[in-house]
Amino acid sequence: MDVYESLVDVVGNTPLVRLNRITAGLSAPIYAKLEYVNPGGSVKDRIALSMVRAAEDAGLLRPGGTIVETTSGNTGVGLAMVAAQRGYRCVFTLPEKSSAEKVAVLRAYGAEVVVCPGDVPREHPDHPRATAARIARTTPGAWLADQYNNPANPRAHHGSTGPELWRQTEGRLTHLVAGVGTGGTISGTGGYLKEVSGGRVRVIGADPEASVYSGGPGTAYAVESIGLFRHPETVDDSWPESFHPRVVDPVDRFNDRRTRTTPPPPAPAVRGVGGAGAGTAVAAGLRVAAGLGPDDLVVVVIPDSGRNYLSKVFDDAWLREQIGEERPAGGA
Ligand SMILES: Cc1ncc(COP(=O)(O)O)c(C=O)c1O
Repeated sequence: MDVYESLVDVVGNTPLVRLNRITAGLSAPIYAKLEYVNPGGSVKDRIALSMVRAAEDAGLLRPGGTIVETTSGNTGVGLAMVAAQRGYRCVFTLPEKSSAEKVAVLRAYGAEVVVCPGDVPREHPDHPRATAARIARTTPGAWLADQYNNPANPRAHHGSTGPELWRQTEGRLTHLVAGVGTGGTISGTGGYLKEVSGGRVRVIGADPEASVYSGGPGTAYAVESIGLFRHPETVDDSWPESFHPRVVDPVDRFNDRRTRTTPPPPAPAVRGVGGAGAGTAVAAGLRVAAGLGPDDLVVVVIPDSGRNYLSKVFDDAWLREQIGEERPAGGA
């Protein structure tokens, strides 16, 4: 029979689809790596599986245990899916700006969700990460996944996303473009591609203009899950260990206002997929491809689906209120 024994066996091997309409006039093709095709709906399924397996192997997570994590949603869905398969309980802390859809999905997967203020310094006891750390400390049998500092995060991409892209493009990939949240995707995937290509592949990070990663002040921005925000009163301004800046050539900056309205990819038939993080990456991909020729091949990582943001980027009233603009017409 052509069947799988579990949902976790379907993680990875996502399709690479050419962007057509929005690339008109460019010589270099741009392909979108559709990570929302993973069973939990995002790129984070890969790291959920890899982090849980590593914790089990290290004896940190045992039968009947509890998985605790700070997540803007997608990592939580991946972890909840893996937890359901293995019988773990899940408790997730989320920043307030997470979309209502993400919170509802996590609860539907059976996770307990604690919504925390997003506008407090990292040291504040109510900060999502401080809250998760406290819950993990005070709950017997709990394990804090800590995607920001867990080596199994970039390792998942080094072992799967990178090799998939090299195989799918038959070694023709020349430029990788991805948003940087924890940094796991770009560090693991980009690291593998640099190794396998003898350093030829260029790796470009796509960042909201205010984010610290690309030299911004770290002031608030609206796009979820990418960039590095730095509260003015925070003392700890360390970068996540999952991000390996040496792998990234430039980190390209994008005005938040524009990235929220970049027409989302990937194909005309499915216009409307891809969230704001995807919009940022596609905007960066278009900028990169403008300077390239027909022998180049650009891959843009689409981390999740626009269905996670129906109440935000895809809601005209929300857009008007936030930035005084309508969503532009047109697809990819
Ligand atoms: C929804 C979402 N999650 C995560 C990321 C970043 O992934 P990582 O945490 O691996 O850097 C992005 C990047 O575009 C994103 O849009």
